[in-house]
Amino acid sequence: MATIRLGDKAPNFNAKTTEGEINFHEWLGNSWGILFSHPADYTPVCTTELGTVAKYKDEFDKRNVKVVALSVDGLESHKGWIGDINETQGTTVNFPIIADEDKKVSELYDMIHPNADSNLTVRSVFVIGDDKKVKLIITYPASTGRNFDELLRVIDSLQLTAYHKVATPPNWNNGEDVVVSPAIATEDIPSMFPKGHKVIKPYLRTTPQPNLD
Ligand code: BEZ
Repeated sequence: MATIRLGDKAPNFNAKTTEGEINFHEWLGNSWGILFSHPADYTPVCTTELGTVAKYKDEFDKRNVKVVALSVDGLESHKGWIGDINETQGTTVNFPIIADEDKKVSELYDMIHPNADSNLTVRSVFVIGDDKKVKLIITYPASTGRNFDELLRVIDSLQLTAYHKVATPPNWNNGEDVVVSPAIATEDIPSMFPKGHKVIKPYLRTTPQPNLD
């Protein structure tokens, strides 16, 4: 297992999922992707997380993001559990769940942290860009459910950086001013950001979010 770092190409794999066999890179196609792991099927936090993700599908679609979950349980277990998720969370699971019984993908992505648990994955999140590069890695312990609003917020930031050469300040939310990349010379800002800009310091320049009408 090699360490995966930001900017690396996301390792490819073939896997069994609840929506059939996938080749990860082919399944991603031209989309962005989220690969996220769950400690185990039929557990309370995981059940509520997967229901939450199903309800966010429109938000992921808007951002051209495909989502795939993973746990080290098998396909039959996943399929039974999906029934419980749908029943208890009032939703329909609308994304594949990888059955990683042989731990091939978990080990490839370093999702098992032996000093936390020797067999189960932690709650890992990998956001992968449409260039197949790893853009974000977050790791939560099994006992803490993830904040999917934060994940959407970060994806908005990542996509602004990828497509508009801007960065986002702390606690930024969609619609608020953004920071012009330090790589852009101040004299080039007016042509690149015609909505206006402020020079607070030569290295700190802000502009209205460029991808809004
Ligand atoms: C849960 O999903 O609720 C969970 C799973 C493993 C350890 C702790 C909580």
